[in-house]
Amino acid sequence: SSKEQKIGEIIAEHHGREGPLLPILHDVQKEFGFVDAEAETLIAKGLNLTRADVHGVVSFYHDFHQQPDPRPEVQICRAEACKARGVEALMADAETAAGNRVKLKTVYCLGLCSVGPNARVGDDLHARLDAAGLTKVIENAR
Ligand code: FES
Repeated sequence: SSKEQKIGEIIAEHHGREGPLLPILHDVQKEFGFVDAEAETLIAKGLNLTRADVHGVVSFYHDFHQQPDPRPEVQICRAEACKARGVEALMADAETAAGNRVKLKTVYCLGLCSVGPNARVGDDLHARLDAAGLTKVIENAR
């Protein structure tokens, strides 16, 4: 499968370095959003570990998700232009609005730099956000 192939590539990239397991897990999570049983099995095979070894690490670190995150995702641009236009001052309100219901994801540039701060939900881009506007975007995210 293409997932298998991608995980194989990630393993190959880190193979031979010292302590490859954590960087591989981080890359797999970055690519797929989670590290599931299939990924654990492939990584174990690639590194000559048992799946239990890999699973132990995945479940020990809270950064790793073992299944897809079911929450709606709001991407917030925190790259330079949006920073200059004040996005950081909106983040505390954004966190409050999101709570545990919505996942906030930092992204670096949504291609609308002159009209930031910007956020994206699915295919919808939201520009010129202030705290109230961003809060509304988060509250409406499904
Ligand atoms: Fe935010 Fe480009 S820096 S959209």
